[in-house]
Amino acid sequence: MEPLTAEDFQSLQSYIQQHYGIDLHKKSQLISSRLAVPISQIGYTSFHDYVLDIISGRRPDLVNPMLARLTTNYTYFMREEAHFQFLQSTVLPWIEKQHRNDHCVNIWSAGCSSGEEPYNLSMYVMDYFQAKGSWDTRILATDISTDMLQRAVNPVYSAENLNNLPAGWKSRYFTRRPDGLYTVAPRLRKNVLFRIFNLMDPIHFRKKFDLICCRNVMIYFNQSVKDALIQRFYGATVPGGYLFIGHSEGVNRNTCPYEYIKPAIYRKKV
Ligand SMILES: C[S@@+](CC[C@H](N)C(=O)[O-])C[C@H]1O[C@@H](n2cnc3c(N)ncnc32)[C@H](O)[C@@H]1O
Repeated sequence: MEPLTAEDFQSLQSYIQQHYGIDLHKKSQLISSRLAVPISQIGYTSFHDYVLDIISGRRPDLVNPMLARLTTNYTYFMREEAHFQFLQSTVLPWIEKQHRNDHCVNIWSAGCSSGEEPYNLSMYVMDYFQAKGSWDTRILATDISTDMLQRAVNPVYSAENLNNLPAGWKSRYFTRRPDGLYTVAPRLRKNVLFRIFNLMDPIHFRKKFDLICCRNVMIYFNQSVKDALIQRFYGATVPGGYLFIGHSEGVNRNTCPYEYIKPAIYRKKV
């Protein structure tokens, strides 16, 4: 395999940055080491031809596997538990009041990976509204990765993965298979609508959101991509609606239009 030249690295990293927001400008070594074997396995003898095929758009089928190699889809149930506590104590009661007439909950898990986050949010929403009459509790979950979305719509989780859920939820929302793994109960599955969506694109969903949960996604984005995304999220949030981000992800307090509530929790002015 001919090595990755500085010029090809530059072309590939700016393509990835421009189309997917992912900033790899200091990651030449990572790109070489993570892609060399997989691209030689599919028949390339040089990075140059591979980079040309990607940036020319000739091989769109190679883009998702490439992004999967260069980023992480790591996620788990009850990640950053403080968000779920705040959801239960503050956001859901507010949604209940806000939507007392249309009985509709509008929550978006943006960058949902293999589904743990939206299923987790959904369990809280279903649990909260179960005794409150008929509510449309469905939530939207999106990701750029088709592989992750495949896993999310056909979910299979290990018993350990479910250990941190509140007592009783394992049996209420999951079914144990003979091999010891767990599938998601049909009513929980039906409550999450999975869609492919690139967060670099304009946001044109039918309704605005009461809560946008975009956690551990912006870690890859540079400040200007993050700022622009937060502006788009703001436009897609109802007045008084919330934004959750990952606890390790800061926002620019000078440009962020949301009001800071507590670590990793923001709110649009009412
Ligand atoms: C580390 S996972 C976060 C999963 C979950 N939100 C959590 O906090 O556990 C990051 C996800 O962001 C997705 N992602 C990265 N860039 C994206 C983009 N431009 N548009 C949509 N999703 C993106 C990745 O595919 C990945 O599944």
